[in-house]
Amino acid sequence: MCGIVGYIGEQNCVPVLINGLKSLEYRGYDSAGVAVLSGDTIGIRKTKGKVDNLSNLLLNEPISGKAGIGHTRWATHGAPSDMNAHPHFSNDDKIAVVHNGIIENYQELKAELEKKGYVFQSETDTETIAHLIDDYYKQGHDILESVRKTLERIEGSYALGVLCTDYPDQLIAARKESPLIVGLGKGENFIASDIPAILNYTKKAYILDDKELALVKADSVSLYDIDGNEIKKEVYTYKWDVEAAQKSGYDHFMLKEIYEQPKVVRDNLAQRFSEDGKSIELDGIKLGRAELENINLIYIVACGTAYYAGLVGKYLLERMVGIPVNADVASEFRYKEPLIDEHTLVIVISQSGETADTHSALKLAKSKGSRVLGIVNAVGSSIARDADDVLYTLAGFEIAVASTKAFSAQVVAMYLITLHIAMELGRIDNDTFEEIKQAMDLLPKQINDILTKAVPKIRRFVNKYIGSKNVFYIGRGLDYVVCMEGSLKLKEIAYLHSEPYAAGELKHGPIALIEEATLVVGIVTQEALFDKTKSNIKEVKARGAKVLAIAMQGNRSIEEVADDVIYIPRTHWMLTSLLANIPQQLFAYYMALELGEDIDKPRNLAKSVTVE
Ligand code: AGP
Repeated sequence: MCGIVGYIGEQNCVPVLINGLKSLEYRGYDSAGVAVLSGDTIGIRKTKGKVDNLSNLLLNEPISGKAGIGHTRWATHGAPSDMNAHPHFSNDDKIAVVHNGIIENYQELKAELEKKGYVFQSETDTETIAHLIDDYYKQGHDILESVRKTLERIEGSYALGVLCTDYPDQLIAARKESPLIVGLGKGENFIASDIPAILNYTKKAYILDDKELALVKADSVSLYDIDGNEIKKEVYTYKWDVEAAQKSGYDHFMLKEIYEQPKVVRDNLAQRFSEDGKSIELDGIKLGRAELENINLIYIVACGTAYYAGLVGKYLLERMVGIPVNADVASEFRYKEPLIDEHTLVIVISQSGETADTHSALKLAKSKGSRVLGIVNAVGSSIARDADDVLYTLAGFEIAVASTKAFSAQVVAMYLITLHIAMELGRIDNDTFEEIKQAMDLLPKQINDILTKAVPKIRRFVNKYIGSKNVFYIGRGLDYVVCMEGSLKLKEIAYLHSEPYAAGELKHGPIALIEEATLVVGIVTQEALFDKTKSNIKEVKARGAKVLAIAMQGNRSIEEVADDVIYIPRTHWMLTSLLANIPQQLFAYYMALELGEDIDKPRNLAKSVTVE
């Protein structure tokens, strides 16, 4: 939700800011803008729409300078418009601000500032920050102190970048509950919401914690706590290279990320088994027999795709371990007074590690004495830092808004956790463990096979049904969870209405919506439920539906009821979700492609949902 970037050094900052904003567009693309210090003025260019619009504006109305801040917006307060685009600035144009987050008490502050004569130009909450800093500045505080005092007054979340014409050799950054790093270069320094924005220039950064400020100059960075005390932090070195944040020949990040899945799964498996292959090692997480025997409930909490990965875990843990497992989307969990205590293991799952609802759920769980295990992709993110234990999903950068490889990595994490707990508590024997491990070792190659073989078939199917307006996904058990993920993917990138249904529920209402040529995706990979789901497919066929089935190799009788079938390689029943989901990702991708949608940046969405 909004990306910010800042530069101070010897180069013209404008190309640095634009490149940075392009890498941060996954965080929002409603509008974009830059503020650049040149001489004793700040030049501001901002416009509605994507960063390309801003680049065009800058071609017509160029500015340059050696210090600047930039912003790409996902609108919360005020519609996407030129005026609501960041940076926002003080009435005398001396102070410019970019902000990611939400100022909850902005209306009170605005009323107070208006009484003092401040004139607001936008409908945003952020503009109050610019005027409040200005107010303190006019009272005689220096700019750093003015920012610090402002932070004491504002409630909510923020990652901030601030420029002031009277301090041309510095920019100020601060964070609370929205991510911000300070990138460290040679004779130049940066601020950014995320490392891809500055990876062309540096891999070293300070990761700011809540309520910390940075005074950033070209050749130095000073860090402070909210009380103004100088603090020291370790420099973090990112391991990713520039390539990781580029499309590398693929048309879209989403497609690149789909094709990275064999590697992601291989990397996860390679690092998680002991040398003799007889047990699982989870990044040193202490969840041994003693800790596990203290647990009588597991609660899985996440949002969107991460939640569906969690639901895979719920099915597996209940069936293989026998501990009750609740699962909730984080936005519900955090407001429902969940029945958890010190005997509950709460598993929170998040690709970004910054999702506001999931983070709040984590804090709630900790306040109730529960142990929180975070399954997180982004290293050093808020959720990773606040969880009691972290299992990193090793998926690398995921840039497309629609999550693909991160989901697969999360599902593998659920497999590993399930196996680990089942072994520790003696719920499965060594032979079963060995059998599942062998099946897991085949997964990267099997994903590769699906990617190679399924594409032509899926493209044909997409072309056949391109006019469909409604798509139903039906399945049972683990297949039903896969339906939820498939349906979400189709909604978010192809903008098609779709519903996931437990196949057995169809008769209780939704089958009324099936008519001639309604598209139905039937997932039938669970052998034990094969005949049941096949019957449900027959029922929709009888009412005119066209059916694409995703089934396991060998179960050819599905062809009796489906119009087209994609087969996944045979695997252990607990591992089917990972494989069955791959054709669905391709289906959503090619559907969106044929419909001409903006696949990596679907409308109204942002990759990292840092507001509730
Ligand atoms: C997935 O395609 C979505 N873009 C979305 O549902 C996402 O999974 C959700 O917002 C959770 O994000 P997180 O994993 O970063 O917490």
